[in-house]
Amino acid sequence: MSAIQYMVDADGIATITLDLKTRPMNVLAAELTAPFSEAIAKVEGDASIKGLIITSGKKEFLAGADIDGVFAITDPKLAFDLAEQYKALLRRLEKCGRPVVAALNGTALGGGLELALACHYRVAIDDPKAKFGLPEVKLGLLPGGGGTQRLPRLIGIQMALQPMLEGKEFKPAEAKAAGIIHELAKDRDEMLAKAKAWALANPKAIQPWDDKKFKFPGGDSKNPAVVQVFAIAPSMAHAKTQGNYPAADNILSCVYEGGVVDFDTACRIESRYFADLVVSQASKNMIGTLWFQLNAINKGKSRPEGIAKSTVKKLGVLGAGMMGAGIAYVSAKVGIEVVLLDSTQEAADKGKAYSANLLDKLVKKHRMTAEARDAFLKLITPTTDYALMAGCDLVIEAVFEDRTIKADVTKKTEAVISATATFASNTSTLPITGLAKASARPKQFIGLHFFSPVDKMPLVEIILGAETTPETLAKGFDYVQQIKKTPIVVNDSRGFYTSRVFATYIMEGASLLLEGQHPRAIEMAGLKAGMPVGPLALHDEVSLSLSHHILEQTRKDFAAEGKTLPEHPANALIEKIVKTLNRPGKKAKAGFYDYPDTAEKHLWSGLAKEFPLAKAQLPQSELIERMMFVQANEAAKCFEENVVMTVADTNIGSIFGWGFAPFQGGALQFINAIGMAEFVKRSEALAAKYGARFAPAAVLKKMATEGRRFE
Ligand code: NAI
Repeated sequence: MSAIQYMVDADGIATITLDLKTRPMNVLAAELTAPFSEAIAKVEGDASIKGLIITSGKKEFLAGADIDGVFAITDPKLAFDLAEQYKALLRRLEKCGRPVVAALNGTALGGGLELALACHYRVAIDDPKAKFGLPEVKLGLLPGGGGTQRLPRLIGIQMALQPMLEGKEFKPAEAKAAGIIHELAKDRDEMLAKAKAWALANPKAIQPWDDKKFKFPGGDSKNPAVVQVFAIAPSMAHAKTQGNYPAADNILSCVYEGGVVDFDTACRIESRYFADLVVSQASKNMIGTLWFQLNAINKGKSRPEGIAKSTVKKLGVLGAGMMGAGIAYVSAKVGIEVVLLDSTQEAADKGKAYSANLLDKLVKKHRMTAEARDAFLKLITPTTDYALMAGCDLVIEAVFEDRTIKADVTKKTEAVISATATFASNTSTLPITGLAKASARPKQFIGLHFFSPVDKMPLVEIILGAETTPETLAKGFDYVQQIKKTPIVVNDSRGFYTSRVFATYIMEGASLLLEGQHPRAIEMAGLKAGMPVGPLALHDEVSLSLSHHILEQTRKDFAAEGKTLPEHPANALIEKIVKTLNRPGKKAKAGFYDYPDTAEKHLWSGLAKEFPLAKAQLPQSELIERMMFVQANEAAKCFEENVVMTVADTNIGSIFGWGFAPFQGGALQFINAIGMAEFVKRSEALAAKYGARFAPAAVLKKMATEGRRFE
């Protein structure tokens, strides 16, 4: 069955409807492009046709490239040819001598929007769910279907750069305001009527860039104003990417170089830069993890099968502090009724005020109406009364990190909620199995570990207690998806997964400082490695006193089990900075950094005296290697110990949980990319030089001998 429907009406207007029957969405696979090419040939060969409308038979217009196909390409020539073929098709379309209108019934992203840009006119249904943009950069690619050339020629170089560098997705009204779409319609009929009316009224339509008198809006790359943009844009991009994302560089180059040559040459330049990215390690890493593995997680890879989907209608939140307030906000945001309980009404009200604050900002920016804010806030009931918890499907506990208090609130809640309700703890350090001992129904007890700030962080780490049932896991999983976050599933163990591996990064920074490496070099290496923040600044943020507290607690726990904690070399530093130097972190405005009230934070001047510089300063590459290897190796140990059970959860958890360099594709993909045997060899060398924490996980040695990688 053809993926294209072609029909011509009584007025000579042809309509091509894209409808790839074998897929849920239209994508640029050969099954679509081949019949599309034939349909264009029909128009080219039929003089009676006066205009052409392109629309889709699916909910979306066209989702973009066939990522499976792009991911499989390892030969740059093949990538170049693919881009050139698609461009040739689009070029035929826009030069067919008849007006061509894109009737955008829904989302058009990447190659989908590039098709629309190759039409002379664009009408879109004003559907709040529709998105338009060129998001290729998010997978380490660039728009290879002429997007980097048509968009700047349409809206100007300066306006076009940012959306492509950030992969911005526009809503219909925004796209119209930006000049990407010409007209909006309220429904399909109106869209098609407007498309047809425009085609009939503009029989001689040509693209602006095919007009001999064409000039770039705002000037081409040689224009003095645009030259200024290109003088600054690369350094601004590098400040964000640290040079780790070749896609940003290639997009800038495409637009700059394309802005001094004719359109067809410009398109060929784009194909070359596209091919370079398709075969780059960064794009393979990002597509593998942020596309395939993330999709697998979203489709429920770690959710037990055969259990009916559930939704939470009423949620109880215990503790209206920083985390509880955030959990209430993200839940009410999707329409869940929330009872927010604290030990005083004042504290509970303060927790609700957190939502009011966030919403007021949206109202001020005209991104929400006052009515919508009021309706949102109505969903949150602040209280001290446990009786109001009755009828909750799920209760999440986020009170102080204290076993006795947690046990107390668990008992009080279970006295009120129904026998089928789920109870979750947001603990960051206490084992779930232990907390579940306070519960009369440990089978329905689970860990839901949120990250701060809750409204921004995309991950929730679901922790299974020894008795947690698959049904309870499924309910937790469904709730996390209901609030539009990504769940990973882990087994109960010290630090769970994310906190355990994250700690290795900040502790490596501390080790380096203790060894006498320059603190600024340490911070810079962290950023160059692709981490969002340097390890010392990050340690200040999560608080040095918390690290110290966890260290003391862990020593006690080990002692209680008759064991001795294997000490990390930097433990001594943590003790010194917190206890001797009284610098507990950012909250106290004193940690590795100083936080003056009126100026930006800066490294504490006392560091030089307390941690004198070593004569031998390591090269940046070795600092980076240590920070990344130590994390990847710990993640591999978590995988080996079954703390985390799938490669997808391990990789996505690392990127979404603590910002592990996204261009590396996550902690395990980092090892894949280096090569299993090479990683093991290098880890052994690091272990010999710096200590046992670098000794490669057994699973890595085994996989290296078997020639396997993480799939
Ligand atoms: P917080 O100190 O901001 O809030 C705790 C709230 O619980 C306070 O409002 C307090 O009044 C209330 N509370 C204490 N005892 C209570 C009781 N008996 N009954 C009712 N309410 C009571 O603490 P935060 O940061 O929100 O942390 C809460 C939990 O979340 C802790 O278990 C923490 O380990 C965990 N967590 C914290 C993260 C963070 O970044 N702060 C991240 C992930 C988990």
